[in-house]
Amino acid sequence: MASISKAVIPAAGLGTRFLPATKAMPKEMLPVVDKPAIQYVVEEAVAAGLTDVLMVTGRNKTALENHFDRVAELEYTLEAKGDLAKLKRVNESTDLADIHYVRQGDPKGLGHAVLRARMHVGHEPFAVLLGDDLIDARDPLLSRMIEEQQKRNATIVALLEVDPDSIHLYGAAAVEATDEEDVVRITGLVEKPAKEHAPSNLAIIGRYVLKPEVFDVLEQTEPGKGGEIQLTDALQVLAADEASGGVYGVVFRGRRYDTGDKIDYIKAIVQLACEREDLGPELRPWLRSFVGTIDE
Ligand code: UTP
Repeated sequence: MASISKAVIPAAGLGTRFLPATKAMPKEMLPVVDKPAIQYVVEEAVAAGLTDVLMVTGRNKTALENHFDRVAELEYTLEAKGDLAKLKRVNESTDLADIHYVRQGDPKGLGHAVLRARMHVGHEPFAVLLGDDLIDARDPLLSRMIEEQQKRNATIVALLEVDPDSIHLYGAAAVEATDEEDVVRITGLVEKPAKEHAPSNLAIIGRYVLKPEVFDVLEQTEPGKGGEIQLTDALQVLAADEASGGVYGVVFRGRRYDTGDKIDYIKAIVQLACEREDLGPELRPWLRSFVGTIDE
């Protein structure tokens, strides 16, 4: 079976929930403490052994390309000052992976963005990572998904148990148990269902290991919810197609930071900063005393 070496990161959405911050840069470039969200995601792909990264970009692609490119002037200035710690931080994003770019054109949905990866990916299985979800490096999810993909030759998605009151924000999965405690077979998927129509409270989060068959299905997928070509709709077709190997979900029980909307983004920054050795010791006591001053 073909091994997996490529990661696709769609970053062409309009990011309307973060306007005006996203007027001139993609939301994937918003900093989470001191790194753009997308750098955490590229680091995660590299940690899972995927060093060939394709970014699907939109109208504001320059900021992304610049972030992963050399900035000679900055390097020279830091070197001249002898500030090697900062120089190292600057070079980390430059040397991380072999990064390629493709344009989406019109942002017609996540499914459409993934379809733009077809030429680059070819006939191998590949990973898709969304910058909206940050997965803690201590809880490796992607390698577990890759392992299952290689074992089952199936499509693999990441699932998270969420509060039933939040399931309308996600794609929800109907599932059957398998012989693995953390793996379920997906029998159906519904994009952003109302609570009473949700088949379970298992939500799809932003990690996928897909087979190249998904491209043919996406070609045929009509715009769905929100007038967008939905990846979930294509996965629903694959789930019903035994010949494609079906769709399985790895149930993630580790630490995930949602950066997709404003409140969750703020929570993610506070959580991550509190845990950081360089920031936590000063931030934690301040936060405790600040909380004491807040009225509900
Ligand atoms: P979202 O629906 O969360 O992103 O897409 P959005 O549309 O940019 O956000 P809002 O709702 O307007 O604030 C999930 C992921 O899919 C990418 C986004 O960049 C994000 O990583 N995406 C979405 C694309 O690459 N192209 C699209 O056409 C839509």
